[in-house]
Amino acid sequence: MGWTFPSLFIILISIVASIYQVKTLNLYNTSSTTTNSSLTNNTITNSPVHTNMSAPRAIRQAFLAIEKSEGMGARVRRSIGTPKLRNFSPFLMLDHFTVGKDAGFPDHPHRGQETITYLLSGGVDHEDFAGHKGTIGPGDLQFMTAGRGIMHAEMPHNNPDGSPNVGIQLWVDLPKKLKMCEPRYRDLRAQEIPIASADGGRATIKVISGKSHGIDSVKDLAYTPVWILDITLKPGGRINQILPIGWNAFAYTLEGTTTINKKKIPQYHNVEFVQEGDSVQASNESDEESRFLIIAGQPLDQQVVQYGPFVLSSTEDVYQAISGLPVAL
Ligand code: CO
Repeated sequence: MGWTFPSLFIILISIVASIYQVKTLNLYNTSSTTTNSSLTNNTITNSPVHTNMSAPRAIRQAFLAIEKSEGMGARVRRSIGTPKLRNFSPFLMLDHFTVGKDAGFPDHPHRGQETITYLLSGGVDHEDFAGHKGTIGPGDLQFMTAGRGIMHAEMPHNNPDGSPNVGIQLWVDLPKKLKMCEPRYRDLRAQEIPIASADGGRATIKVISGKSHGIDSVKDLAYTPVWILDITLKPGGRINQILPIGWNAFAYTLEGTTTINKKKIPQYHNVEFVQEGDSVQASNESDEESRFLIIAGQPLDQQVVQYGPFVLSSTEDVYQAISGLPVAL
């Protein structure tokens, strides 16, 4: 999605804060790397079936993604990339957007990250300066690697029934060595996504990327490994979802109320999990269906210096990105 100039200006102020936070991030990731390798060694030494490690991840925090205006005629619930949740490598931003027919995100730049757009309803046309064009519809995804830089537009459809265009956009950091790679796109159509069933049909899992209940759908869609699961639970349904050890993970509640680790989580909440543990337990104790995303990603042990849509490794790199911008921004 786009970043208006005022929001870019505000983020400039936060660069200093980001640099300060990098120290915290490095400490965090150093310890996670240690944990990860020791667990890996443990698995190799012992049994490939890691039953001794089956432990649900605790919730670090759960909070409402507050709805705000963004750009012209767009409303966005941002949860990652806010004061509530930063330095959550590899995730930089999570937006749940609702965009009307006359709104959109005309030409704007990105550099140094991957954006994953998951459309829930409506349609969004995409076009960039290199001549790439595409449209995604309900249930489709688009993976865009901004790499060394891309200028593009994301324009929502004018739906005949007047309904808005709703979706999720996740920004994932790129490994430092790939920051300046060639930009690329990949679309994933709704019909290409395998669906798993659990708990006697009371749990349905769209395995966009990752593994769930016998379906292995780990795809080479983004350079940084990410699992994305879209889960619907009927009343009374429950699920135990295994996640890669040492990865950062969160859930985002799209519809209804979901009980996660015995805590009732209403709609539009982000649930951040601690890194320890290997699974997430969720159930639906309500009378209506509940729907939520579980997303996990491999943390990157690197600096993050962000100025709006530029996510780079040093302040100098950010200045360079800004100075190379067309005046149109
Ligand atoms: Co964009």
